[in-house]
Amino acid sequence: MDISWSHAVIRVRDIDAVVKFYCDVLEFEIADRGYLGPGDTGPEIAFLSGSSSDHHQIAFASIRGPEEATSLEHLAFRVGSIAEVKAMIERVSADERVGDGLPLTHGNALSVYFKDPEGNGIEIFCDTPWHVKQPQAQGWDPSMSDEEVLTDLESRFRDAPEFSPMADYRAKRAIDFGESG
Ligand SMILES: [Fe+2]
Repeated sequence: MDISWSHAVIRVRDIDAVVKFYCDVLEFEIADRGYLGPGDTGPEIAFLSGSSSDHHQIAFASIRGPEEATSLEHLAFRVGSIAEVKAMIERVSADERVGDGLPLTHGNALSVYFKDPEGNGIEIFCDTPWHVKQPQAQGWDPSMSDEEVLTDLESRFRDAPEFSPMADYRAKRAIDFGESG
């Protein structure tokens, strides 16, 4: 399994102050910002990145309670294929320390979410061929074949904002970041 670091999502109390700090001090850019729902309501989430390689490298969600000790929502790790995500779903479902994983798709990723034994959130995901404006979250069916999963995904996200080939999105982001080649 080729597993690599991708991004973290942090619970915060003052999202404006935190986002401003990361943009000012660490030169992150805001990739997307929106509401966790329902509709255009609920807590806000802001996605930040300093590279064209990932839609976001860190995100902040305004869901930290005043007494909440940890600020971590989840750590996310990228794998190279749908088969590897499915294998992880089977693995965590069979592991009594974890409990069943939750398969979710953001349109641009096929993911499974679960918690480590201390309750820290973990996301294992693979890229899909598409970019979609975030946030997005829907269930997906790991019992489908890989081909069926992608066909189903395309039909559900085709009309979503900014739906486009991931290669086009990454090329545009590379220009935004002033990367050459
Ligand atoms: Fe994530």
